[in-house]
Amino acid sequence: MNNPIGVFDSGYGGLTILADLQKKLPDYDFLYLGDNARAPYGSRSFDVVYEFTLEAVKFLFSQGCELIILACNTASAKALRNIQQNYLTTIDSNKRVLGVIRPTSEIIGKITQSNHIGILATEGTIKSDSYRLEIAKFFPEIEISQKSCPMWVPLIENHVYDQVGGKWFIEQDVMKLLAKDPEIDTLLLGCTHYPIVAEIITEIVGEDIQVVTQGEIIANSLVDYLDRHPSMDEVCSKNGITTYFTTETSSDFDKKASKFLQKEIVSKHVVIS
Ligand code: DGL
Repeated sequence: MNNPIGVFDSGYGGLTILADLQKKLPDYDFLYLGDNARAPYGSRSFDVVYEFTLEAVKFLFSQGCELIILACNTASAKALRNIQQNYLTTIDSNKRVLGVIRPTSEIIGKITQSNHIGILATEGTIKSDSYRLEIAKFFPEIEISQKSCPMWVPLIENHVYDQVGGKWFIEQDVMKLLAKDPEIDTLLLGCTHYPIVAEIITEIVGEDIQVVTQGEIIANSLVDYLDRHPSMDEVCSKNGITTYFTTETSSDFDKKASKFLQKEIVSKHVVIS
């Protein structure tokens, strides 16, 4: 059996992370799962995000994944710790599930010059306060302001973010965040869907504010993890193949994912509940 690295997201957002993982680790196999049929996760309760994410993790393990990246901030914020503590401990202990919040928090303080960071993310991620808590562990001197953007994921999933109405919502949220702290020089896009609108955000904020996306950060962190865990690295299969699964109809996923990744994607439909 092949042992691809599992990459999970509530929908298309994780493709922005996957693209960087494929670039950094071209020989590795990946298995992407988008729970598009149940996205967005952003405004769902802790219990529901945990239940959905656990189902996804079980599916990815059943496909041979030994290592899974929750490439979804909302799932990382609301389900990762529970999965690590309450589920992984009850099964084969060699399997691992990693998230995206810690690796991002370890790096973000090295990017800001003013030590004032703004975070844009889903309602769930902001409410969990996970970024503030994690960043404080590494960079206690940093001032953090946060803003949830509940409209963005539906705008992105439906591919209407670049229309006049879509841009209006994005600008409103960005300006509200910047109004909280005029010293912000770094905007962290703490949702894997948001890199898709990074250019629009840069147009709004100008070149003096850095807009930080997570793909490269997560890819570097995975390379480092595999270096430090050679037995896991050995298990991961390396044929340079990525397989895509979606809980939506595959034709719908293929059309939109191909647009996001700008290459042809052929996925398989799966029921994970
Ligand atoms: N892409 C996910 C994240 O990083 C969640 C989006 C959603 O489903 O609301 O937070």
